[in-house]
Amino acid sequence: MTRQTLEVLAVASEIFPLVKTGGLADVVGALPAALGRQGVAVTTLVPGYPPVLAALDRSGAALVLPDLFGGPATVLSGAVAGLDLLVLSASHLYERPGNPYLGPDGRDWPDNAIRFAALAAVGASIGRGAIRSYRPAILHAHDWQAGLTAAYLAYGGPRPPASVMTVHNLAFQGQFPASLLPRLGLPDDAFRFDGIEHHGMIGYLKAGLQLSSHVTTVSPTYADEIRTVEGGMGLDGLLRYRSDAVSGILNGIDTRVWNPASDPLIAAPYKASSLNGKPANKAALQERLGLSVMPDAPLFGVISRLSWQKGLDLLPAALPRLIAGGAQMVLLGAGEPELETAFTTLADAHPGTVACTIGYDETLAHQIQAGSDFLIVPSRFEPCGLTQLCALRYGTIPVVSKVGGLADTVADGRTGIVFDAVNEAGLAAALDRAIALHHTPRAFKALVRCGMAQDVSWDAPAKAYANLYRALAGRAQH
Ligand code: ADP
Ligand code: GLC
Repeated sequence: MTRQTLEVLAVASEIFPLVKTGGLADVVGALPAALGRQGVAVTTLVPGYPPVLAALDRSGAALVLPDLFGGPATVLSGAVAGLDLLVLSASHLYERPGNPYLGPDGRDWPDNAIRFAALAAVGASIGRGAIRSYRPAILHAHDWQAGLTAAYLAYGGPRPPASVMTVHNLAFQGQFPASLLPRLGLPDDAFRFDGIEHHGMIGYLKAGLQLSSHVTTVSPTYADEIRTVEGGMGLDGLLRYRSDAVSGILNGIDTRVWNPASDPLIAAPYKASSLNGKPANKAALQERLGLSVMPDAPLFGVISRLSWQKGLDLLPAALPRLIAGGAQMVLLGAGEPELETAFTTLADAHPGTVACTIGYDETLAHQIQAGSDFLIVPSRFEPCGLTQLCALRYGTIPVVSKVGGLADTVADGRTGIVFDAVNEAGLAAALDRAIALHHTPRAFKALVRCGMAQDVSWDAPAKAYANLYRALAGRAQH
């Protein structure tokens, strides 16, 4: 049976491999290929940041907008790295160096409200047919930066196409002063409790949660957590109200990019059926980072944004135990300055045993996954988490807290070590278990093999998204 191709326009503020600050980019970059195999054609609308424009194999302007929030803009269509893109080129909004959200002072750009309103407004107008011969059945908005898409659809006329809002992280909500309303091009009437208003302000994510046809988040457990007072970050009431339209679809990882059998970034390839290459990766990592090259020392890796969410402030207190247990630790991360300093200081105090790299380094991330015995992810909350999925694939045992997607993807004692209490004692006990496990090679290998056998690909999640899209498209037609 041949299925009809379904057209989906994704709207997102980052996309791997062009612009990435976190897992959002990985998801937006990997999902289209997996959906393609499900008969869903995804085109992604992204802002024309300098690296995106530089990479674009331009096939011309699909849309010309003489005045988009104070300046001219064009929508360019093209393909990069197998991704079908619509790029919103607007020099007054996006052609700035560095991080997509932050200025050189490390603070949010003062006009972020306008920059991302523009993205959403253009997404919605394309959804309504602004580009001739392109009429997506579904608009899929990711995170607060795309949150207003559903608002522009809802207030832009009758019979809008169906929309999906995916929450990658409820902690980032895009709240802006109500005084902005006249500039957004939305009717005054949109500023109401069942519209874009949120605690007296304009809530971009809130608007998306309220006005989209369906809301997804990136794991079933996080979908439950965000409907509780403890995990709902002020939006649990709305999410409970919309419960029938809320679901969790677990993330996957790109198993071509993350494949220890063919990864060009690691020292030696290996696979579950022949793990002989793994020790060479450990030795190469120890050498690269100036650790003592000790094959038998349990090696713990961390690859993370350094923020409260990730619980890494709990790690320094546990480190003396790790060191006493003969272990080593490597950390790659960037974020809160206090945490950066804390880990740099620890590395200085324990040369040969602790290594800390501050910054963003895709290659080193692969090498840590390949070379470590364990990966520590002690998050306070975690919508899904991708590093533990990479760890499973690389035969590196995840040590994770029992929250969100970590709870959904790591099975305690079978594929990893999962701990309940996200505090120093809870983490310390989990690390003790890890060291004990390392001393029992048979049990250790059993977990490694079981983890490597887990399906962490996008296949099952893509099927779930495709089913959702088809259900929504079908409903919109009736
Ligand atoms: P989040 O999106 O909350 O930061 P995820 O686990 O979903 O967490 O995704 C993080 C992604 O970013 C993963 O692909 C991870 O490998 C990568 N990553 C995080 N920090 C770094 C870093 N310092 N260098 C390289 N990659 C990193
Ligand atoms: C967010 C979340 C993370 C998730 C990622 C991709 O950044 O913090 O848990 O994996 O988005 O969905």
